[in-house]
Parts: sequence; C-alpha cells; structure tokens
Amino acid sequence: MCLRELTSLDAGIQDIQLVPGGVRFFCKPGETFPAALWLRSPSRIYMRIARFKADRFAILEKKIQAIDWELFLPAGTDPAIQVTTHTSRLYHSDAVADRCRPIIQAALKAKTSQNPDSQTLMVRSENDWFDISLDLSGPPLYKRGIKHRVAGAPLRENLAFAILDATGFTADDVLVDPMCGSGTFSIEGAMVQAHIPPGFFRTFSFESWPAFSAAGFQHAKSLAAQHFTPVGPIFASDVDPEAVAALNTNLAGQKFLASVQACQQDFFDIVPDRLTPKKGVVVLNPPYGRRIGKNRDTTAFYREIMGKLAADFKGWRVGLVFPGKHLPKMTQLRLQPFHFFHGGLDLTAGIGIV
Ligand SMILES: C[S@@+](CC[C@H](N)C(=O)[O-])C[C@H]1O[C@@H](n2cnc3c(N)ncnc32)[C@H](O)[C@@H]1O
Repeated sequence: MCLRELTSLDAGIQDIQLVPGGVRFFCKPGETFPAALWLRSPSRIYMRIARFKADRFAILEKKIQAIDWELFLPAGTDPAIQVTTHTSRLYHSDAVADRCRPIIQAALKAKTSQNPDSQTLMVRSENDWFDISLDLSGPPLYKRGIKHRVAGAPLRENLAFAILDATGFTADDVLVDPMCGSGTFSIEGAMVQAHIPPGFFRTFSFESWPAFSAAGFQHAKSLAAQHFTPVGPIFASDVDPEAVAALNTNLAGQKFLASVQACQQDFFDIVPDRLTPKKGVVVLNPPYGRRIGKNRDTTAFYREIMGKLAADFKGWRVGLVFPGKHLPKMTQLRLQPFHFFHGGLDLTAGIGIV
C-alpha cells in the first residue's frame, strides 16, 4: 500500500523497492517532506544519511565524525540516539551510543538538554554494517493532530486508512462507521474524501532541519488547502455515549469534517436503507477479548455482527477487524484476510462484499 502511495506521489522519488517491514526509496532530502505530508499508510519515515562497516570503536568514531552533521540537524540540538545491533562485533548498544553522542554533540555545538528528544537518530548495525538514519516525523505519522479526545482502544490512523483503502473506499462512497469510538475511521475517511494531506494538522521534527524551507512547505499546504471539500455522507455511531461525546469534540470546529454525522446508536438497530439510498462501505473494529465484557463471548458477538451485516448490508463493501492471525471459520460472509499487528496484538482485517 505504501509502495502504491509513493508511486503516485508527485515528487522526485525514485527507485522505490519493497524491503522487509517497509519500503525504501531514493530522493533529495527536501523531497521527503511532501512524502511525510501526504503518505497515509506508513508509521514512520527514516532518512538514511550514512552506511559504513565498523568492527571497532575507533572506526565507528571516525565514520561518525566524517558525517557533516550541520547539514542535517540544526545547530544546538542534542538528538536522542537509538541503537540496535545484530550479529555485530560492536554489540553493546549503550556503548555504541556513548561513543557516537559526544562526537555529534561537538559537531552540533549541542546545548545539552535543550529539546532532548525533539530529534531522533537511529543507529542500526547488522553483520558489522552500520546504517545511520534520522527520524523525519517525531511523533509517528499516524498521529494526524486532529483527534484530541480518544475513546477506548482506537485503531491507529494508518491502519484505519489501510482498511478503508482495501475496501476500495473513494470520495464517491457513503461510509458507515457503526462502532466508531472516537471516530478514527470516520475522520480518516473524511480526510481521504476531502483530499486533505494526513500531515496537514501536525508538525514534524524535520521542520527545524537546515534543508527545510518553511515557505516552500507552507506553499504546498496552501495549495492542498484550496481543494478541501467535505464530501460524505459519513455516518458514525456508537452504543457508548462517552465515545460519541469524544467524537463530537474531535469534529468541533473542523469544516472538512462537516460530512461526518455522529449519533448514539446500537449497531444492531441500524437500518442502512433509512440512512442512505446508496450502498457504500461499512467498517467495524468491534471490541474483543477482555474489552467485550464479562458475560459476553467474542465468537458469539462476531457471529451476531456477521449475521447483521449479511441481513441488512447486502451489496455493501465491508472491512471488519478480527482478533487473531486468521479469519475464524464462520463464513456468513466471504472475506479476504489481511493480517496485521496492532499494539502488540495479531489482528486480521476481513475485506469483502456482503
Ligand atoms: C475497539 S472500539 C472501536 C474504536 C474505533 N473504531 C476507533 O478506532 O476509534 C469498539 C467500539 O465498539 C463499540 N460498540 C460495542 N458494541 C456496540 C454495539 N452493539 N453497537 C455500537 N457500538 C458498539 C464500543 O462502545 C467501542 O467504542
């Protein structure tokens, strides 16, 4: 999905390749900024600034010294250093960080403890090869800077996007989000439909980098803002009044979210034909495991959900999140499984047409 997003970006991005756990691409530093502004699916973007072999601390220090740090980071910063090592002679991650830190601090004339965590440097070694990278975003990219109130167990925004995208969701679709919580699917859907860059409402750690042009970035954002148009309709509902209150707080004051209609309602009471004459997309991330409550059983609850979808949402495209690595064998609906990992749990999104 990320590869597809990168390919369709109108930026000087080249040589896009799938690698384990991610996508690698080449571009000029300034071209990563629009990527961070526009990509909806990734959690992070790291900019690799050096790669070298080092099997002794003296070599590591020499290579770190050779990097022109002032080209990448603002003078005065003291970046946090995260080290991971794997099958390397320099295996002690704290010792690696301790050798790198004074060199970088000296190069940047760091005022120690000034914004200590605002920049993060990743030092990774495998088989004595070191990759030195900078984290572009600061807080992960799925933090869109819109949801100020969060109800229980929200899905990450990039995963909500991935599920919407897998259903084929577009600006022409009606969206029903009947277990909306604080509104992750609905807000993400509204942003997709209104062509709002996912990074529009947040800041990034690269905004203080020497290569960053505030005027250029602001211009890109202003161009994007000219096209913001709420589309919808998006029907968000939840049985829990607290969740609906949280969603209403998140919707308040955002014009592009005018397409989202929020109300308190039990999913099992929804009659889609009364909401809209058009069939569209329905997405659900139901409670499971210990969240479902003492006297209820996850399997039975999912069976009820699938029964309701099969009875009342005929012809709708569906994205339904299941706990576990595989779709359970209860096939009221034919769904294609997409396994993913979320907050330490294996989950599977079932995607299909009812
Ligand atoms: C895991 S949370 C979903 C959070 C939401 N998708 C998000 O990412 O922000 C599950 C939600 O389902 C709601 N829920 C549970 N049973 C429901 C029902 N029968 N009808 C409507 N909502 C229900 C809960 O109140 C809770 O907000």
